[in-house]
Amino acid sequence: QTPTQTSPKVPALPDAQTVTSVKHWNDRLFSFRVTRPQSLRFRSGEFVMIGLMNDPDPKTGKQKPLLRAYSIASPSWDEELEFYSIKVQDGPLTSRLQHIEVGDEIILRPKPVGTLVLDALLPGKRLWMFATGTGIAPFASLMRDPETYEQYDEVILMHTCREVSELEYGRQLVESLPNDPLIGELVGDKLRYYPTTTQEQSAQMGRITDNLSSGKVFADLDLPPMDPEHDRGMVCGNLAFNKDIMAVLEGFGLEEGANSDPKHYVVEKAFVD
Ligand code: A2P
Repeated sequence: QTPTQTSPKVPALPDAQTVTSVKHWNDRLFSFRVTRPQSLRFRSGEFVMIGLMNDPDPKTGKQKPLLRAYSIASPSWDEELEFYSIKVQDGPLTSRLQHIEVGDEIILRPKPVGTLVLDALLPGKRLWMFATGTGIAPFASLMRDPETYEQYDEVILMHTCREVSELEYGRQLVESLPNDPLIGELVGDKLRYYPTTTQEQSAQMGRITDNLSSGKVFADLDLPPMDPEHDRGMVCGNLAFNKDIMAVLEGFGLEEGANSDPKHYVVEKAFVD
């Protein structure tokens, strides 16, 4: 009797998910959607680790996963998961990730975490979302979540980029929401949008920190200055921005909260390669 022959199996990617769509916004930004693991539950605003297999080690031939933190840009009710990414030409992950196509597999570790969640804030009247660059990703999730509109009377998204083309992902999303069959009615006119550029001429310009400190954004949107009784903030941008806006928010009397200790605002850095 001969032993049963088993053919050697090609190891499948661990935690593999399949790419369902890819959109390139300019030569430095793209978004993509992947299948969602059935067991994955997350709170809008959280991030997961995603990536690709590294090239095999020339000595051992072994391959290791190359993973980075990415905010989930889709809301928690969505059947798929969306991500929004920069393309760094010599970035270890994004130099390769930018070439993914529909049908390709990526690795997605189904362990969502993060501080930009509604639970980390005390109840309030207005929710301010402050983003630079790809820091808009967690807000792309939160602004599509019904709970955001159930908990707040007004939601204000301030998004600042160097150039106009970098605002386009957020702009199209915001503009689509009032007509969205699922949450359009809830969004209604509650979502206010304040996009600005800093290095290219556009309708509204200036850094978020400057537009808050000068009071320009309050005047433009006909809102009172932020105060700890009514206003809540979520911050996601580059490190210098995060640091500077924290000082501005503290100046309005707001205090930083966390999952375990909800207060007036929360901060997360926009993840980069
Ligand atoms: P600026 O062009 O005036 O530096 P980056 O592409 O470097 O991540 O920046 C994204 C956006 O964040 C840019 O519009 C940039 O404005 C703005 N920004 C960078 N640093 C700060 C900061 N410390 N405070 C406020 N805005 C900032």
